[in-house]
Amino acid sequence: MRRKTLVAGNWKMYKLSAAARELAAAIRQGLGSEQRVDVAICPPFPWLTAVAEVLRGSPIAVGAQNVYPGNEGAFTGEVNSAMLLDAGCKYVIVGHSERRHVIGEKDQFLNDKAKAALQAGLHVIFCVGEKLEERDANKTEAVLDNQLTWGLKDVPAAHAPRLVIAYEPVWAIGSGRNATPEQAQQAHVFIRWRFSQLFGNEAAEKLVIQYGGSVKPDNAASLLSQPDVDGALVGGASLQADSFLKIIRAAVV
Ligand code: 13P
Repeated sequence: MRRKTLVAGNWKMYKLSAAARELAAAIRQGLGSEQRVDVAICPPFPWLTAVAEVLRGSPIAVGAQNVYPGNEGAFTGEVNSAMLLDAGCKYVIVGHSERRHVIGEKDQFLNDKAKAALQAGLHVIFCVGEKLEERDANKTEAVLDNQLTWGLKDVPAAHAPRLVIAYEPVWAIGSGRNATPEQAQQAHVFIRWRFSQLFGNEAAEKLVIQYGGSVKPDNAASLLSQPDVDGALVGGASLQADSFLKIIRAAVV
Protein backbone atom coordinates (compact mmCIF):
# COMPACT_ATOMS: atom_id res chain seq x y z
CA MET A 1 0.00 0.00 0.00
CA ARG A 2 1.25 3.43 -0.92
CA ARG A 3 1.01 5.82 2.01
CA LYS A 4 1.09 9.56 1.45
CA THR A 5 4.33 11.14 2.62
CA LEU A 6 4.28 13.73 5.42
CA VAL A 7 7.16 16.18 5.68
CA ALA A 8 6.95 18.37 8.77
CA GLY A 9 9.23 21.17 9.89
CA ASN A 10 9.82 21.46 13.62
CA TRP A 11 11.12 24.97 14.14
CA LYS A 12 11.82 24.28 17.84
CA MET A 13 12.66 27.52 19.74
CA TYR A 14 13.82 29.49 16.70
CA LYS A 15 12.59 32.57 14.82
CA LEU A 16 11.05 35.87 15.88
CA SER A 17 7.72 36.92 14.44
CA ALA A 18 8.83 38.65 11.22
CA ALA A 19 11.21 35.80 10.36
CA ALA A 20 8.52 33.23 11.09
CA ARG A 21 6.09 34.94 8.72
CA GLU A 22 8.75 35.29 6.03
CA LEU A 23 9.76 31.66 6.26
CA ALA A 24 6.16 30.44 6.09
CA ALA A 25 5.49 32.70 3.09
CA ALA A 26 8.63 31.50 1.29
CA ILE A 27 7.68 27.85 1.85
CA ARG A 28 4.17 28.55 0.61
CA GLN A 29 5.48 30.27 -2.49
CA GLY A 30 8.11 27.63 -3.20
CA LEU A 31 5.67 24.77 -2.83
CA GLY A 32 3.03 26.17 -5.15
CA SER A 33 0.15 23.79 -5.58
CA GLU A 34 2.23 20.64 -4.94
CA GLN A 35 -0.09 18.18 -3.25
CA ARG A 36 1.63 14.85 -3.67
CA VAL A 37 3.30 15.30 -0.31
CA ASP A 38 1.58 16.45 2.88
CA VAL A 39 3.50 19.32 4.42
CA ALA A 40 3.23 20.81 7.89
CA ILE A 41 5.17 23.42 9.79
CA CYS A 42 5.39 23.66 13.54
CA PRO A 43 6.41 27.13 14.72
CA PRO A 44 6.76 28.24 18.34
CA PHE A 45 3.46 28.92 20.18
CA PRO A 46 3.45 32.74 19.85
CA TRP A 47 3.54 32.59 16.05
CA LEU A 48 0.96 29.86 15.44
CA THR A 49 -1.82 32.26 14.52
CA ALA A 50 0.39 34.47 12.38
CA VAL A 51 1.80 31.48 10.49
CA ALA A 52 -1.68 29.96 10.08
CA GLU A 53 -2.76 33.28 8.57
CA VAL A 54 0.14 33.26 6.10
CA LEU A 55 -0.71 29.69 5.11
CA ARG A 56 -4.49 30.09 4.89
CA GLY A 57 -5.83 28.61 1.64
CA SER A 58 -2.58 26.72 0.96
CA PRO A 59 -2.09 22.95 1.27
CA ILE A 60 0.41 23.47 4.12
CA ALA A 61 -0.83 22.56 7.59
CA VAL A 62 0.22 24.08 10.90
CA GLY A 63 1.30 22.07 13.91
CA ALA A 64 2.17 22.92 17.50
CA GLN A 65 5.22 21.59 19.31
CA ASN A 66 3.51 20.85 22.60
CA VAL A 67 0.14 20.67 24.35
CA TYR A 68 -1.18 20.38 27.87
CA PRO A 69 -3.74 17.66 28.54
CA GLY A 70 -6.75 19.36 29.96
CA ASN A 71 -9.68 21.60 29.48
CA GLU A 72 -9.45 25.22 30.45
CA GLY A 73 -8.33 25.79 33.98
CA ALA A 74 -5.72 27.17 36.31
CA PHE A 75 -2.59 25.85 34.56
CA THR A 76 -0.26 28.83 34.34
CA GLY A 77 1.82 28.86 31.20
CA GLU A 78 0.09 25.93 29.52
CA VAL A 79 -1.83 25.67 26.25
CA ASN A 80 -4.53 23.08 25.57
CA SER A 81 -5.84 21.33 22.46
CA ALA A 82 -8.88 23.58 22.01
CA MET A 83 -6.56 26.59 21.90
CA LEU A 84 -4.34 24.91 19.31
CA LEU A 85 -7.32 24.09 17.12
CA ASP A 86 -8.57 27.64 17.52
CA ALA A 87 -5.14 28.94 16.47
CA GLY A 88 -5.39 26.93 13.25
CA CYS A 89 -3.41 23.81 14.11
CA LYS A 90 -4.03 20.42 12.58
CA TYR A 91 -1.08 18.65 14.19
CA VAL A 92 0.69 18.60 17.53
CA ILE A 93 4.04 17.01 18.33
CA VAL A 94 4.02 14.88 21.50
CA GLY A 95 6.93 13.06 23.09
CA HIS A 96 9.76 14.79 21.29
CA SER A 97 13.09 13.70 22.75
CA GLU A 98 13.85 17.23 23.87
CA ARG A 99 10.71 17.17 25.95
CA ARG A 100 11.48 13.67 27.23
CA HIS A 101 15.15 14.19 28.00
CA VAL A 102 15.67 17.94 28.44
CA ILE A 103 12.36 18.92 30.05
CA GLY A 104 11.92 15.53 31.74
CA GLU A 105 8.44 14.51 30.57
CA LYS A 106 7.49 10.92 31.37
CA ASP A 107 5.44 8.30 29.52
CA GLN A 108 2.33 8.82 31.63
CA PHE A 109 2.27 12.56 30.96
CA LEU A 110 2.91 12.01 27.24
CA ASN A 111 0.12 9.46 27.18
CA ASP A 112 -2.25 12.00 28.78
CA LYS A 113 -1.22 14.57 26.16
CA ALA A 114 -1.69 12.19 23.23
CA LYS A 115 -5.12 11.04 24.44
CA ALA A 116 -6.35 14.58 25.10
CA ALA A 117 -5.11 15.94 21.77
CA LEU A 118 -6.64 13.05 19.81
CA GLN A 119 -9.89 13.35 21.73
CA ALA A 120 -10.03 17.03 20.78
CA GLY A 121 -9.57 16.20 17.10
CA LEU A 122 -5.89 17.01 16.56
CA HIS A 123 -3.51 14.80 14.60
CA VAL A 124 -0.69 13.73 16.91
CA ILE A 125 2.90 13.29 15.75
CA PHE A 126 4.08 10.96 18.51
CA CYS A 127 7.88 10.77 18.73
CA VAL A 128 9.90 7.78 19.84
CA GLY A 129 13.59 7.02 19.70
CA GLU A 130 16.51 5.51 21.56
CA LYS A 131 19.61 7.12 23.00
CA LEU A 132 23.05 6.14 21.75
CA GLU A 133 23.88 3.99 24.78
CA GLU A 134 20.59 2.15 24.33
CA ARG A 135 21.36 1.44 20.66
CA ASP A 136 24.87 0.30 21.60
CA ALA A 137 23.39 -2.04 24.22
CA ASN A 138 21.00 -3.52 21.59
CA LYS A 139 18.02 -2.04 23.39
CA THR A 140 16.56 -0.06 20.50
CA GLU A 141 13.49 -2.24 20.05
CA ALA A 142 12.89 -2.54 23.78
CA VAL A 143 12.97 1.27 24.11
CA LEU A 144 10.62 1.77 21.15
CA ASP A 145 8.32 -0.93 22.52
CA ASN A 146 8.14 0.80 25.90
CA GLN A 147 7.57 4.25 24.46
CA LEU A 148 4.78 2.99 22.20
CA THR A 149 3.18 0.76 24.83
CA TRP A 150 2.97 3.41 27.55
CA GLY A 151 2.70 6.47 25.33
CA LEU A 152 -0.26 5.08 23.39
CA LYS A 153 -1.89 3.19 26.26
CA ASP A 154 -5.70 3.36 26.12
CA VAL A 155 -5.77 5.41 22.93
CA PRO A 156 -9.08 4.37 21.34
CA ALA A 157 -8.66 2.48 18.05
CA ALA A 158 -11.02 5.00 16.45
CA HIS A 159 -8.33 7.65 16.99
CA ALA A 160 -5.48 5.65 15.43
CA PRO A 161 -5.99 7.18 11.95
CA ARG A 162 -4.99 10.56 13.39
CA LEU A 163 -1.72 9.25 14.79
CA VAL A 164 1.62 9.73 13.05
CA ILE A 165 4.73 8.18 14.59
CA ALA A 166 8.08 9.92 14.24
CA TYR A 167 11.13 7.74 14.76
CA GLU A 168 13.83 10.09 15.99
CA PRO A 169 16.92 8.36 17.34
CA VAL A 170 18.23 10.76 19.98
CA TRP A 171 21.82 10.40 18.78
CA ALA A 172 20.83 11.66 15.33
CA ILE A 173 19.03 14.82 16.42
CA GLY A 174 20.96 18.01 15.76
CA SER A 175 24.15 15.97 15.54
CA GLY A 176 24.62 15.92 11.79
CA ARG A 177 24.73 12.14 12.09
CA ASN A 178 21.61 10.64 10.56
CA ALA A 179 20.57 7.03 10.86
CA THR A 180 21.43 5.05 7.75
CA PRO A 181 18.43 4.29 5.53
CA GLU A 182 18.73 0.65 6.64
CA GLN A 183 18.73 1.56 10.34
CA ALA A 184 15.68 3.76 9.81
CA GLN A 185 13.87 1.09 7.80
CA GLN A 186 14.55 -1.56 10.44
CA ALA A 187 13.21 0.62 13.26
CA HIS A 188 10.17 1.61 11.21
CA VAL A 189 9.31 -2.02 10.51
CA PHE A 190 9.43 -2.71 14.21
CA ILE A 191 7.23 0.32 14.97
CA ARG A 192 4.67 -0.74 12.37
CA TRP A 193 4.61 -4.26 13.76
CA ARG A 194 4.08 -3.00 17.33
CA PHE A 195 1.41 -0.59 16.12
CA SER A 196 -0.41 -3.47 14.43
CA GLN A 197 -0.50 -5.31 17.74
CA LEU A 198 -1.98 -2.25 19.40
CA PHE A 199 -4.42 -1.11 16.72
CA GLY A 200 -4.69 -3.89 14.14
CA ASN A 201 -3.14 -4.60 10.75
CA GLU A 202 -5.19 -2.18 8.71
CA ALA A 203 -4.37 0.78 10.96
CA ALA A 204 -0.70 -0.23 10.89
CA GLU A 205 -0.62 -0.44 7.10
CA LYS A 206 -2.02 3.06 6.87
CA LEU A 207 0.23 4.48 9.61
CA VAL A 208 2.57 7.23 8.47
CA ILE A 209 5.97 6.78 10.15
CA GLN A 210 8.33 9.72 9.79
CA TYR A 211 12.06 9.61 10.29
CA GLY A 212 13.69 12.51 12.11
CA GLY A 213 17.29 13.28 12.98
CA SER A 214 19.63 15.33 10.78
CA VAL A 215 17.45 15.03 7.69
CA LYS A 216 19.07 17.26 5.06
CA PRO A 217 18.55 17.83 1.33
CA ASP A 218 21.40 15.44 0.50
CA ASN A 219 20.21 12.47 2.58
CA ALA A 220 16.43 12.90 2.33
CA ALA A 221 15.93 10.92 -0.89
CA SER A 222 17.76 7.82 0.32
CA LEU A 223 15.94 7.84 3.67
CA LEU A 224 12.56 8.45 2.06
CA SER A 225 13.08 5.74 -0.53
CA GLN A 226 12.84 3.09 2.18
CA PRO A 227 9.47 1.31 2.01
CA ASP A 228 8.50 2.04 5.62
CA VAL A 229 9.84 5.60 5.81
CA ASP A 230 6.74 7.64 5.07
CA GLY A 231 8.04 11.10 5.71
CA ALA A 232 10.41 13.26 7.67
CA LEU A 233 10.31 15.39 10.79
CA VAL A 234 12.89 18.02 10.06
CA GLY A 235 14.57 20.31 12.59
CA GLY A 236 17.53 22.43 11.51
CA ALA A 237 16.97 22.09 7.77
CA SER A 238 13.37 23.34 8.12
CA LEU A 239 14.58 26.76 9.26
CA GLN A 240 15.42 27.80 5.73
CA ALA A 241 12.90 27.65 2.91
CA ASP A 242 15.46 26.46 0.40
CA SER A 243 16.60 23.37 2.31
CA PHE A 244 13.10 22.50 3.53
CA LEU A 245 11.71 22.71 -0.02
CA LYS A 246 14.53 20.50 -1.28
CA ILE A 247 13.58 17.86 1.28
CA ILE A 248 9.93 18.07 0.24
CA ARG A 249 10.94 17.65 -3.41
CA ALA A 250 13.05 14.63 -2.46
CA ALA A 251 9.86 13.11 -1.07
CA VAL A 252 8.02 13.40 -4.40
CA VAL A 253 8.53 10.06 -6.08
P1 13P B 1 17.41 17.99 13.29
O1 13P B 1 16.81 17.81 11.93
O2 13P B 1 17.91 19.37 13.55
O3 13P B 1 18.39 16.91 13.62
O4 13P B 1 16.18 17.81 14.34
C1 13P B 1 15.38 16.70 14.24
C2 13P B 1 14.24 16.87 15.14
O5 13P B 1 14.37 16.84 16.35
C3 13P B 1 12.92 17.13 14.54
O6 13P B 1 11.91 17.05 15.48
